[in-house]
Amino acid sequence: MRLEDEIARRRTFAIIAHPDAGKTTLTEKLLLFGGAIQVAGAVKSNKIKKTATSDFMEIEKQRGISVATSVMAFEYLGKKINILDTPGHKDFAEDTYRTLTAVDSVIVVIDVAKGVEEQTEKLVSVCRMRDIPIIVFINKMDREGKDAFDLLDEIEQKLGLKVRPLSWPIGMGKDLKGVYNLYEQKLFFFDNEDKQRLKEGVEINDLSDPKVDELLGNRYAKRLREEVELVSEVYDEFDAKNYLGAKISPVFFGSAVNNFGVKELLECFIDIAPCPMKKEAESRVIEAKEDKFTGFVFKIHANMDPNHRSRIAFVKVCSGVFKRNTNYLHVRHGKNLKFASPTAFMAEKKSIVEEAYPGDIIGLPDTGNFKIGDSLSEGEQIKFKDIPNFSPELLQYVENSDAMKSKQFAKGLDQLIDEGVAQLFTSVASGRKVIGTVGALQFEVIQYRLLHEYGASCVYQPITTYKAVWVVSKDKAEMEDFKSRKKNYMFVDKHGVDVYLAENKYALEQCMERFPKIQFHLKSDF
Ligand code: G4P
Repeated sequence: MRLEDEIARRRTFAIIAHPDAGKTTLTEKLLLFGGAIQVAGAVKSNKIKKTATSDFMEIEKQRGISVATSVMAFEYLGKKINILDTPGHKDFAEDTYRTLTAVDSVIVVIDVAKGVEEQTEKLVSVCRMRDIPIIVFINKMDREGKDAFDLLDEIEQKLGLKVRPLSWPIGMGKDLKGVYNLYEQKLFFFDNEDKQRLKEGVEINDLSDPKVDELLGNRYAKRLREEVELVSEVYDEFDAKNYLGAKISPVFFGSAVNNFGVKELLECFIDIAPCPMKKEAESRVIEAKEDKFTGFVFKIHANMDPNHRSRIAFVKVCSGVFKRNTNYLHVRHGKNLKFASPTAFMAEKKSIVEEAYPGDIIGLPDTGNFKIGDSLSEGEQIKFKDIPNFSPELLQYVENSDAMKSKQFAKGLDQLIDEGVAQLFTSVASGRKVIGTVGALQFEVIQYRLLHEYGASCVYQPITTYKAVWVVSKDKAEMEDFKSRKKNYMFVDKHGVDVYLAENKYALEQCMERFPKIQFHLKSDF
């Protein structure tokens, strides 16, 4: 098959959701359709159960599960589908943000009863920053929930998405009769007696057809007609181009656990969702169809076996064809590397891959060569636009607590930061190190992994900080003045960029007022 055909048939995406909305269930149903798994329950939820939030072994077990399910690939109707898994726990939100740099589109799952939740908002805002096309799946229609129009309003308001329903529910909860698929113009019935049974839809091109009354009964038929009419009045016609431009988000309704509405979602998805197109690098835009291979590392996973410090670097192929045992330039190191056992992921199975195409994810065994964001190429000095860091929620000083193990401590901390477990800021004045995380769990993970993988111990000391703020200015004198006044609060991030750890909100506001030529950013890409 030609490169262009391989590209055209790939769909690389992530399912994002607030925990419990049904992400794992939907993933599993999609894999069942693709024949990638045979039984329900094969995909383990990678969320860390609420009861075990600080149980290290549980974290480790979950890490194991999430390696196995990091990428789940399958074939469906001639398309190659790559689902990138994202951690459910909010403390690992940074991992999810990074994964979102490697997808071409996303499906957002929303629980019909709970509506838009906190994590949904955060994750969608990251997608919107990157103009990632979004499909919305409203799940758990077999339960009582919010009115469909109200929920769509809530999605528009809270998520800032312009929506366009492509299916419409008929009833809800105990009275769920089915959905009308506006995209295929078909009625699908929900069988309350035999919920799992998949039924063919009935083609209805015109809802005024009396057949609709026969099938649904007058009351439901009338309501469906009224609501569908309202849909066409309130929402713009669906336009695939607008969806691809992230200007409109199609919405589907269904029930993942009952396998209802999932097949239609999948079939519409493979039809309209984007294949890999291009990726912006610092020097130029790289088109997927270029002959030469390029790719970047978006995730690094440490080995589960502490005696074996190898890791897996997950690389998204951006252009050309990746080939096994071929020399590629590791751009940051300026040296050539070749990979004897790159792995591909097909559902639960991992296998050595000979070739991979744009959109594919390959796992490269690594002994410490890679950092998140590293690029590979056939010689070109490509640097893909950096994966941004966000101002962390929690910050603490980290200190080595065993003088005999300072080397191990430094190396371990370095590697964990390269893996993206947390952010590290180094004080300009004292050289002390501060760890920044999204959630409290990472502090425990770092302590545990330093000890078990590197034999080093650490302690944390509190620091009073309101926010980590990246600062830049073209005005050197003003910057120097600012830095000397805020000497004790000035740090550098892992790239050596200046970061001001603002002591409180008031101090930050004062600085912004007093130093108008300095830009203050709450994320690292500006
Ligand atoms: P997550 O990955 O987004 O965190 O959610 P997950 O799929 O694990 O689903 C969370 C819970 O919601 C599960 O129940 C799951 O069975 C249920 N669920 C998923 N889809 C539907 C649906 O369409 N309708 C209804 N009624 N429930 C749904 P659980 O009790 O937490 O776990 P389990 O014991 O059923 O696995």
